[in-house]
Amino acid sequence: MKLIKLDAIDSTNDFLKGLSATEELENFTVVTAENQTKGRGQMGAVWNSEKSKNLIMSVFVRDLLVRAGDVYSFNIATALSIIEVLKSYNIPNLSVKWPNDIMSANFKIAGVLIENSFKSDGSISSVIGIGLNVNQTDFQNLPKASSMAVIANSTFDKDELVVLIAERLKVNLALVGSDSEFLWTQYDNYLFKKGVPVAFTTDSQKVFMGIIQGVSQKGKLIVLLEDDRLVEYGLKEIQML
Ligand code: BTN
Repeated sequence: MKLIKLDAIDSTNDFLKGLSATEELENFTVVTAENQTKGRGQMGAVWNSEKSKNLIMSVFVRDLLVRAGDVYSFNIATALSIIEVLKSYNIPNLSVKWPNDIMSANFKIAGVLIENSFKSDGSISSVIGIGLNVNQTDFQNLPKASSMAVIANSTFDKDELVVLIAERLKVNLALVGSDSEFLWTQYDNYLFKKGVPVAFTTDSQKVFMGIIQGVSQKGKLIVLLEDDRLVEYGLKEIQML
């Protein structure tokens, strides 16, 4: 694992994407930053993180061999890697809110942004971006967010965390090709609000109730609706309230 530690950057994901376009990057090159000026979240959102307090990391992974339709396994491997590490620090009530927000009880403590590039030989290279709230304690404007420090009432070593997460990622991404069923079962066990009625909303602001059944191979959320229909929703189609 090659580790590049930056002080400030626009986005660690963009940094790695730019670097991989100009040079042959070593597999599992990891970049961390103390601060991001243009941190990006899912679906065009902004990812804000208090300077130096949290873990901001991106990992470049090359030549992953899965079918294009199965890339959701990367999300699963990443979410599980973060959960496994947080578990080893005794962070309680961990779950994955579809698609890959890492939760402790009802609070989001980490987010994942994976950007894949598909090569003509069928292989895939990915930049896996992880934002983990570690030592930030002020979440005044973010009532649904929290951090390891708030939850455990302690501070944590980010350098140690980055290594542990990268190591788990290596192990779990290797399973994507060999034993992805194991990963899927684990992910399913950690799925936030699985089996209980929850409120969803769509782009058209319609609110409806449903019960999460699981996630399909393509990464769609499978929901049982009140009229007994089983419907699969894509990332941009619904949001859990
Ligand atoms: C989300 O929950 O919306 C995903 C957040 C992902 C944030 C990380 S921080 C490191 C990497 N660089 C970025 O610009 N985004 C990801």
